[in-house]
Amino acid sequence: MATYTMTVNGASVSVNVDDPNTPLLYILQENVHLQGPKFGCGLGQCGCCTVLLNGAPIRSCTTGIAAAAGGTIVSIEGLGTLANPHPIQQAFISQQAMQCGFCLSGPMLYGKAFIDANPGATSAQILNALGQTPLLCRCHSHPRMLNALSLYAQGKTQ
Ligand code: FES
Ligand code: FES
Repeated sequence: MATYTMTVNGASVSVNVDDPNTPLLYILQENVHLQGPKFGCGLGQCGCCTVLLNGAPIRSCTTGIAAAAGGTIVSIEGLGTLANPHPIQQAFISQQAMQCGFCLSGPMLYGKAFIDANPGATSAQILNALGQTPLLCRCHSHPRMLNALSLYAQGKTQ
């Protein structure tokens, strides 16, 4: 048994875990009680479990807790609040970019990381960047998500 400490959405979290390869996703769901990162495939192939680790999007289903220890983790619920959503969340709302929302962590956090590093990115550049990694949406909402991400890249929310 070892103790791992990290910051999750601004709060310090310590957990005792037997296996250092325990998926970070399990800790975020079962110990921290987050509902944003989802278990989709468990194999790194869909993006539903995405969180930012030290600012970079990662697949928490295939990231062991030991690899995240000491890090700063942000999930989609850590971006903003209901009363004060983050601009990227406002853009997704204005474009009605999600249907069930199950996949949302992937497109929103991969999109945010790319656009924050590439302000003013075009729709084609965003599509190309996010196309480098599988981000699956069973509701086929990708076009609306791209619209929302393009708005965010332009500094707009609607
Ligand atoms: S659940 Fe992690 S990539 Fe699918
Ligand atoms: S909005 Fe339902 S899976 Fe993407």
